[in-house]
Amino acid sequence: MKQRDVRELGMYGEEVDIDPTEPQTVLLEEIERLNEDSRIHGIIVQDDYPDHVDWEAAIEAIDPRKDVDGLHPENIGHLVTGRPRFVPATPLGIQRLLEHEGVTIAGADVVIVNRSEIVGKPLAHLLLQKTAGGNATVTVCHSRTNDVPEKTRNADILVVGVDSPELIDDFYVTQGTVVVDVGIGRVDADNEKGYELVGDVDFDAVEPIASAITPVPSGVGPMTRVMLHSNTVTAARLQHDVDA
Ligand SMILES: NC(=O)c1ccc[n+]([C@@H]2O[C@H](COP(=O)([O-])OP(=O)(O)OC[C@H]3O[C@@H](n4cnc5c(N)ncnc54)[C@H](OP(=O)(O)O)[C@@H]3O)[C@@H](O)[C@H]2O)c1
Repeated sequence: MKQRDVRELGMYGEEVDIDPTEPQTVLLEEIERLNEDSRIHGIIVQDDYPDHVDWEAAIEAIDPRKDVDGLHPENIGHLVTGRPRFVPATPLGIQRLLEHEGVTIAGADVVIVNRSEIVGKPLAHLLLQKTAGGNATVTVCHSRTNDVPEKTRNADILVVGVDSPELIDDFYVTQGTVVVDVGIGRVDADNEKGYELVGDVDFDAVEPIASAITPVPSGVGPMTRVMLHSNTVTAARLQHDVDA
């Protein structure tokens, strides 16, 4: 889908598909080649890799000015210190989506059920910023959190990415909460594919009580792709010294 977007946007794109039996050095050499290629302004490494691959080392090998996923320690540092350069695409998409829908973030109690590097942690930092789209009070829950429903029921904005299809039902949500469902899971279905995509929120149970809710599919997924391409444009401007 990302490659399809790139073609539609008229960008130049390459998908590098490395045989999973190849050693880590092959991946690092490919990243180095892309770092040096002036046609390439943004590089991402999909986090679907064989056991022998050191994903963190691959991320650190990316030129930080081409790290459009915002996962290089240099870019994480920028975000945490309140000077974001590239923000990971999913959190950025969630923030834009909330702002676009007129949801008040400043002063809101935001509960995020996820502490991953690509979703929960960067989103918490983004919504804490002392700038527009920030100033929220953020609680981050994970699998070791005591009494998750007690936290989620106090949320004005609830963001869920537990990677468990339809785990979050109306027991976790109170009337009027804005619910953002990051999850993308598969459940068996009687259709051609044999499955359908669902979120981590039980949409039918929660939709009647939420003041707004994102659907799956659609919702956060397309926003993630849009923000990735937006980061790539920012990267091109940065590399050509054009004001971002
Ligand atoms: N729509 C998009 O563009 C997009 C982008 C990224 C990810 N996703 C989807 O979002 C989901 C999460 O992705 P991820 O990469 O962040 O997954 P992940 O690394 O597995 O993170 C899952 C998080 O949920 C927490 N968790 C799991 N079960 C829980 C429970 N019962 N109660 C409280 N917390 C619980 C985990 O806690 P621990 O840290 O303690 O394990 C972890 O922090 C997946 O379905 C993924 O496909 C979608």
